[in-house]
Amino acid sequence: MRGVVLAGGAGSRLRPITFSMSKQLVPVANKPILFYGLSDLADAGIEEVGIIISPETGDEIRRAVGKGDRFGLKRVEFIVQDRPLGLAHALNMAMPFVDGDDCLMYLGDNLIKRGVADTVADFKVHRPNAQILLAEVPNPSEFGVAELNQDGVVVRLVEKPKVPPSNLALVGCYLFDAGVQKAIDSIKPSGRGELEITDAIQWLIDDGQEVRASMITGWWKDTGKKEDLLHASELVLSDLSEKIRGEVIDTEIRGAVTVGVGSRVVDSQIIGPVVIGDNVEIVRSKLGPNTTIGHGSHIHDAAIEDSLLMDGAEVSNWKLRFSLMGANTRLTGTPAPGFVELTVGERSEIFGT
Ligand code: DAU
Repeated sequence: MRGVVLAGGAGSRLRPITFSMSKQLVPVANKPILFYGLSDLADAGIEEVGIIISPETGDEIRRAVGKGDRFGLKRVEFIVQDRPLGLAHALNMAMPFVDGDDCLMYLGDNLIKRGVADTVADFKVHRPNAQILLAEVPNPSEFGVAELNQDGVVVRLVEKPKVPPSNLALVGCYLFDAGVQKAIDSIKPSGRGELEITDAIQWLIDDGQEVRASMITGWWKDTGKKEDLLHASELVLSDLSEKIRGEVIDTEIRGAVTVGVGSRVVDSQIIGPVVIGDNVEIVRSKLGPNTTIGHGSHIHDAAIEDSLLMDGAEVSNWKLRFSLMGANTRLTGTPAPGFVELTVGERSEIFGT
């Protein structure tokens, strides 16, 4: 089985963060989201992976992933999709790479707690034509939605329906045998101009082929929006275990906290779970819970909770909550009173007066 990982697209729902970086490289617990998926594929025994990239952010993804050996992959091929014309379009671009094998298509902005190994094993035992993973969600209109009959068989799939037929969302992990090519060739772009993978799977159902659905176990998160990203970060951090590799001086530490190499935490209070990267300086500050501080950041006289700060952040005096700060951002000057909620794009500075 070969893997096809989708890391193209526009990332418009995470702007301004994604004006300057690919959404699949946004870090969760200081590790790009995409890396979790690549390791999960390798853990499931999928060692050959084609990665769909866009012309805008493709080079950044090529550089970050490299040869893929550190994730346990044996072969990585990058496939440029000129425009984000849909998930089925992206899969079609990867079909020469898949070369008649079975494939697992994985959306590069998804995080699946228990990985994909069980799903791959299930596919290999039952050998359906396609296999999808479903999760119960409170907001099905924001996803592809599946309708099952009384026997639990998928009868209909709809993409982001206004009136959802169920609360079962399609998770971003799909398995296919080689017959998916005919389905892709048979469908037309949807109203939003995209070749939808839901339409391709519906074509398989209507053609009488077997589409197997299983419910996800453990949590799953699509990180395409700020609140989902912060929630994903909270879920990942909930499994954190303590590892202090830097210096901690006159500081109260509660719960699971990691402090990276070369970092100094002085005269502060850290309430886990909190991840502090390498070469970070934290002075007279209160951090946590559910907070990540990127490598090389400087935090002075600040309070930060439920937030994600990427590498090279500088915060003095501000109080942040539910905030997302891109790489090399600065918050200085006299801040707004009390806690503020911010989303700040890369290399930006806010100077409070
Ligand atoms: O996360 C699960 C949901 O993902 C499913 O429930 C939906 O059925 C499915 O359509 C998809 O919805 P999204 O709106 O979240 O898809 P998004 O546009 O964010 O694209 C998902 C990933 O695929 C993302 O990493 C970008 C990439 N992509 C997307 C498109 C449209 C590509 O590489 N090429 C594309 O043409």
